[in-house]
Amino acid sequence: MRTYCAKDYYHASRMAANIISAQVIMKPDCVLGLATGSTPIGTYEQLIRWYEKGDLDFSETHSINLDEYKGLTAEDEQSYRYFMNTHLFDHINIDKKNTFVPDGTELDSEKACRAYEEIIRAHGGIDLQILGLGHNGHIGFNEPDSAFAKETHCVKLSESTITANARFFATIDDVPKEAYTMGIKSIMQARKIVIIVSGEGKAEIVKKAFLGPITPEVPASVLQLHNDVILVGDEAALAEYNKEVQ
Ligand code: GLP
Repeated sequence: MRTYCAKDYYHASRMAANIISAQVIMKPDCVLGLATGSTPIGTYEQLIRWYEKGDLDFSETHSINLDEYKGLTAEDEQSYRYFMNTHLFDHINIDKKNTFVPDGTELDSEKACRAYEEIIRAHGGIDLQILGLGHNGHIGFNEPDSAFAKETHCVKLSESTITANARFFATIDDVPKEAYTMGIKSIMQARKIVIIVSGEGKAEIVKKAFLGPITPEVPASVLQLHNDVILVGDEAALAEYNKEVQ
């Protein structure tokens, strides 16, 4: 695993955006695995700026998002489809037909997950997967568990995730209790992975995930087994990690 420690969130975002740009320039019809959460917002802002300057062209690019809340429509401001449209897709020349997010309106979990697996398979997997990191070590919505879930599946969100994500909703009761998420196998099959971390609140979990034992109790720890991962973070998020490796 390579680590890139930026002095702050802005520079970490630029680094992540640089890696995505390189991928899109080298392979314009690549498949990007995209993530939501507050962390990648700065990365997407940077990509939009470079697109507006004429440096990037997403017309042939495809994207497959990690996850979606079960029950939310694309128009719901809290849905991850809405997030992706407003934070990235509406501002670049990606063809929305080539962008995929699990269908939160499909309430038959088995059907929704099977359809998403088929989308991932039909695209030949993911060239570059962007990840954020949950406070409990989750990636996508793969919550701590007794085994690594392989394929797209429906998860019951943990209390800590519901509490963390409540900040985006009017009340905590409005946070959906379930979500569809890409599984660990699809994430691990991505050819390259960039995980972005920011802020002191992530410092402990970063250390645990990347220097601790590989265990489904800390889903991100599985990334230690991938041969092309770049951990991009600001000094605050990498503080505990850096203390151990230096
Ligand atoms: C959510 C998303 C994850 C994301 C995580 C961290 O639960 N499903 O994909 O990585 O939150 O979010 P943040 O970047 O806001 O800390």
